[in-house]
Amino acid sequence: MMHQTILSGTPTALTSRDAHLRLDGLTKRYGDTEAVAALNLDVPKGELVALLGPSGCGKTTTLRMIAGLITPSGGRIVVGRSDITQMPVYRRDMGLVFQSYALFPHMTVARNVAFGLEMRGVSKPEIEQRVREALAMVRLEPLAERRPRELSGGQQQRVALARALVIRPSILLLDEPLSNLDAKLRDEMRNEIRDIQQNLGITAVFVTHDQVEALSMCDKVVVMKGGKLEQVGTPVDVYEHPATPFVASFVGRTNRLEAMGKGDGTAIAGGAVLRIPSRAQGPVEIMMRPHRVRLTDSDGASASGGEGTNRLDGRLSRVTFVGDLLQYHVDVSGTELVVEAASDHGRVFRAVGAPVSLMWRVEDTMVFGRTA
Ligand SMILES: Nc1ncnc2c1ncn2[C@@H]1O[C@H](COP(=O)(O)OP(=O)(O)OP(=O)(O)O)[C@@H](O)[C@H]1O
Ligand SMILES: [Mg+2]
Repeated sequence: MMHQTILSGTPTALTSRDAHLRLDGLTKRYGDTEAVAALNLDVPKGELVALLGPSGCGKTTTLRMIAGLITPSGGRIVVGRSDITQMPVYRRDMGLVFQSYALFPHMTVARNVAFGLEMRGVSKPEIEQRVREALAMVRLEPLAERRPRELSGGQQQRVALARALVIRPSILLLDEPLSNLDAKLRDEMRNEIRDIQQNLGITAVFVTHDQVEALSMCDKVVVMKGGKLEQVGTPVDVYEHPATPFVASFVGRTNRLEAMGKGDGTAIAGGAVLRIPSRAQGPVEIMMRPHRVRLTDSDGASASGGEGTNRLDGRLSRVTFVGDLLQYHVDVSGTELVVEAASDHGRVFRAVGAPVSLMWRVEDTMVFGRTA
């Protein structure tokens, strides 16, 4: 892997030559609360990085500090070799797209897109050409003379994107740009933004609280919690190898089970001995993804999964039909665990109340330390 998003160990380390955008101990305090707490992050040139986390974790604050709209309480923002922490917004080479499109309602689409270039004193013929190019990029040329209120939400978001791109920024910042769109349009725009970002080779930071967006669009995912980084990694990294229980449960669905590690690669949970890929001793938290767990009859041969398989017995307490999936809720000694299975025309495996077994592979078992 040539490019990697690296968490620098010390706030002053300036070692990665690849970093295009670097946050170095970036901090924002509001009174006693730290909205963003000493964030260190390197974004290599041409990468799309997602800031992912729950509401209030500091995503927007981070993005707005990068843009220059919020003054940091501490730390530095470096682009290439320049410290831009004190640089005014208009001199930063960044394009911004916000959740609320913030278009000028009285101006046509073309004028909305042209605005940034007019402010920069670009010549009229060049403006016309660049606006045409930007509108072509987001497939809006036929609507150039319309006003924002005559556009759908998705079209307005495309105007906002064109307006950010027309200034040919070296960094594109997007704050939940798709959250006002319906599910289908969101899928489309996801692919469109990703294609444009890759075609232009532009460095981008994408704020979202939607894990699907982060996993499906981005080169790297930065999982944030309470103003701090929880984990930085590729989508596969953070999903398959979550560093903390928080990441495991925020990125993808998961089952949690309290257990006692015995220090020999096993743990006791729900009255059973489970094999775990860890020699942890004492209280641990065991997690497994619902779609990696199989549901079987508690009697019969099918319930024996062989060497590398864990098994817990319980009782089916609820079945939820979610279209392409069936979610089986199973009560295992008072803990509710969920199994997801592809729905075969909504046919249900067993009736609620039936005794069932959960089976999953040892390698699909995630283990985290837990304070007693
Ligand atoms: N101007 C402000 N004054 C005081 N506190 C603020 C201010 N702006 C943000 N905060 C606080 O800072 C924290 C981070 O806010 P921020 O807007 O960055 O969160 P976010 O991750 O973008 O959340 P969301 O997903 O809801 O948009 C929150 O606890 C918020 O209440
Ligand atoms: Mg926000």
